[in-house]
Amino acid sequence: MRQRITSDNESSFSASAAAEQLFKFHEWSEPLRCLPVGLAEPPGSLKEGAIAALQAENLDQKVEITRQVAFQWWNGVLGVGGAVGARPPDRPGRPLEPRLVAPRNLKKRSIRSQRGRIALLHAIAHIELNAIDLAWDIVARFADPRAKSDHRMPRSFFDGWVRVALEEAKHFSLLRQRLIELGSHYGALDAHDGLWEAAQATGHDLTARLAIVPLILEARGLDITPSLLRQIEAVEDPESAAIFKIIYRDELGHVAVGAKWFRYLCLRQGLEPAASFQILVHKYFRGPLKPPFNDFARCRAGLTPGFYRALSSASQ
Ligand SMILES: [Fe+2]
Ligand SMILES: [Fe+2]
Repeated sequence: MRQRITSDNESSFSASAAAEQLFKFHEWSEPLRCLPVGLAEPPGSLKEGAIAALQAENLDQKVEITRQVAFQWWNGVLGVGGAVGARPPDRPGRPLEPRLVAPRNLKKRSIRSQRGRIALLHAIAHIELNAIDLAWDIVARFADPRAKSDHRMPRSFFDGWVRVALEEAKHFSLLRQRLIELGSHYGALDAHDGLWEAAQATGHDLTARLAIVPLILEARGLDITPSLLRQIEAVEDPESAAIFKIIYRDELGHVAVGAKWFRYLCLRQGLEPAASFQILVHKYFRGPLKPPFNDFARCRAGLTPGFYRALSSASQ
C-alpha cells in the first residue's frame, strides 16, 4: 500500500499552497483532468512519474502526466525514489513531427509577417517542449534512493524541479494553442535538437547539469525574451505578447532554482561557486557566451556577473 508522506523537515515549500497557486494560474486554468491520455494509476514514486512523462510520445499525454505527477507530488502521495533499476530514457518520447534538422537548415523569417511570427512561436514551443523533458530528466536522473545520505538531494530540490516541469508544460501548451489560433500547429515546421544535445554530456553530474541547463541555456532566455517581447508588441500581437510575459516571469524563477541548487552543491563539496561554474562551462559547453546579458534579471535570479562575465565572447 502506498504511504502518504506526512512530514518533511527538509522541505521549505508549502505543498498545498504551491499546488493551489500553480493549478489556479489564470493563464492556464484548465482543471486537472484524469484524461485517458494521462496515467491510469499514480506512479510508484516521483522518479517513476518523471520517467513516464519523459517516455510519453503523445504530447497531450506528456503534458497531462506532468500535471498529474506534480499534483500527486504536492499532495504528498509520492516518495522521491523509484524501483531499483528504473532509468530515464536516453532520448525523450516525441511524435513523428516536427522533423529535426541541423540548426543551419532552419529558415529565418521576419516576424512582421504572420508566417514569421508562426516560425518564432514554433521555435519557442520546441524549446519549451525540450524544457519539460530536461526538468523531468533532472528529477529522474538524480532522484537516487540508494545514494548515501550526504549525496542525496533534499525534498525541496525536487519541489523546485517539479514546479519547473509544470511551468514548462504550461508554456508549451500556451504556445501550442496560440499556433492553432494562427492557423498552424506544433509539428508543422522543422526544429533542431541542440538543446537536448547540449544537456546530454552532463547526465552523470548534477552540478554540471545545473551549470549548463538553468544557468547557461535558461539564463540565455532571460537575455533575449525582453527584445522578442518588444518585437511582438511592435507588430500588435497582444495574445502572443501575453504568453511571452508569462514565460519571462516564470523563467526567472527557473534560473533561480538552478542558481540556488548549484550554490548548494558547490558549498557541499567545498567549492567556490563562480570558479566551479566557469570550469564546468569550459568542459561541457561549446563556444563563448554571447552578450548582451540581462544583468538585472540574472542578478534577481542569483546569477551574478562574477559567474559569467569572464566567459563572455566580449571579454575574449
Ligand atoms: Fe519555459
Ligand atoms: Fe524554464
